[in-house]
Amino acid sequence: MKATRALSVASSLALLYDGSLAATSGSINVLAMNVAGLPAILNDNAVPGDKATNAGLIGSKFAQYGYSVIHVQEDFNYHAYIYATDNHPYRTATSGGVPFGDGLNTLSKHDWVNFRRIEWEQCSNASGADCLTPKGFTFMRLALSGSTDNTTTVYVDFYNIHTDAGTEADDLTARQANINQVAAYISTWSSGNAVVIFGDTNSRYSRTGDTAVRSLLASGFTDAWVENQRGGVVPTVESLCSNPSTVNTCETVDKIFYRSSPLVTLKATSFRYDSTRFLQANGSILSDHNPVYADFTWSAGTSFRQSAYFGGDYGTWFSDVPTLSTKTKPKPSTLTFRGASRLDSVGLTLTDGTSLVHGGTGGTTVSLALSSTEYWVEARLCKGDKSGQTRNFYIRAATSAGRTLVAGTATADCATFVAPEGWHIVGFVGQAGDEMDELAFVYAPR
Ligand SMILES: *[C@@H]1O[C@H](CO)[C@@H](O)[C@H](O)[C@H]1NC(C)=O
Ligand SMILES: *[C@@H]1O[C@H](CO)[C@@H](O)[C@H](O)[C@H]1NC(C)=O
Ligand SMILES: *[C@@H]1O[C@H](CO)[C@@H](O)[C@H](O)[C@H]1NC(C)=O
Repeated sequence: MKATRALSVASSLALLYDGSLAATSGSINVLAMNVAGLPAILNDNAVPGDKATNAGLIGSKFAQYGYSVIHVQEDFNYHAYIYATDNHPYRTATSGGVPFGDGLNTLSKHDWVNFRRIEWEQCSNASGADCLTPKGFTFMRLALSGSTDNTTTVYVDFYNIHTDAGTEADDLTARQANINQVAAYISTWSSGNAVVIFGDTNSRYSRTGDTAVRSLLASGFTDAWVENQRGGVVPTVESLCSNPSTVNTCETVDKIFYRSSPLVTLKATSFRYDSTRFLQANGSILSDHNPVYADFTWSAGTSFRQSAYFGGDYGTWFSDVPTLSTKTKPKPSTLTFRGASRLDSVGLTLTDGTSLVHGGTGGTTVSLALSSTEYWVEARLCKGDKSGQTRNFYIRAATSAGRTLVAGTATADCATFVAPEGWHIVGFVGQAGDEMDELAFVYAPR
């Protein structure tokens, strides 16, 4: 019964499924809202009414409208009231009120891995009292969709940001430094991945000297508002929004940016200020910011896909996707692993001689040469605990000819990843140091 209902819901949404019932396309919506949660004695945000009552109302509207993923900023001292009335199944734990927290939280219908809070390296006291509390950004790899056996999963890296406020020279300098810090983080930790950044940028395109958001466009991101409400043209003339805003073409500092990857194509199909959904019963506002909303469609890559991650959130990010995506029909000719009591490294050589190797140099090397008609179709991983940290202990690769290559030591905590029908394993993504902390497999069509 359950399966039948799931399938009919799926087909009514016109989703496409691969062999293991993982959706290969779909849609999500996102909302960014600065919830004005500074202690009332510090800042009343010019919002009428009691902040705790208003926070409870904000949470109930998050639940009522069922947004896929919500990023809140300034979620400081009234956080518990928002979570008390919201019902999203996946939510970050608060980092605290002022002066301990960053005010950032995510409320989601989708699970994630690798959540982190990163503090800004620079802040400005010029205006906005930004150095009062450790502001910054958050990062997570959010699973949009996946097969129940984890063989295929579609991930997008989500960033929630709240940059330095104010318009004095020091503020503009700090804000640009904040955006540069996010961009540097993305090039290290999101290489090869689709990314969505949404939050309070405190920046406007039309403000002279305020270069922060424009530099994000220059680094390959699309602004969902510019795309959907401004015909793709970045504004140079100021057009301030009222609150609640009744038009969507005016500009606020709260913004939504995104980019695709070879693993998943994203497209923002709408943008609006969701202000009229966030009002008190008598029509007064609930925040001094208009919440920003966008619809996205997504579709899994036609040339590359990946498995779920397996292991622990340690080590440094690596992705073979940028290298693989420059090649037509990449195919491994040799698999090479290193292991002993745990898994030290994984690697392969493509038929064009390109070598993809990740991890450390310990353990013993094993390798397997594949024939021209032999494909790597299955991988089994086992993980375990090393000094209180989870990492991969074991890998077993199996080919279409039924041959295997094994490294490391099996544990009781294992998972098997099978390439989708007609696809094979051609590379890796994950996090590694001396050993293989976290690993997922990249698939390509044969
Ligand atoms: C709406 O209610 C709030 C809280 O009770 C009050 O502070 C505010 O003045 C009211 N707004 C209007 C427009 O009456
Ligand atoms: C901002 O002001 C606080 C409190 O006076 C001070 O501790 C901090 O060093 C200042 N930071 C900057 C960057 O000026
Ligand atoms: C898939 O991954 C999730 C998250 O790590 C895990 O809880 C679940 O047990 C996995 N499912 C299978 C079949 O391994």
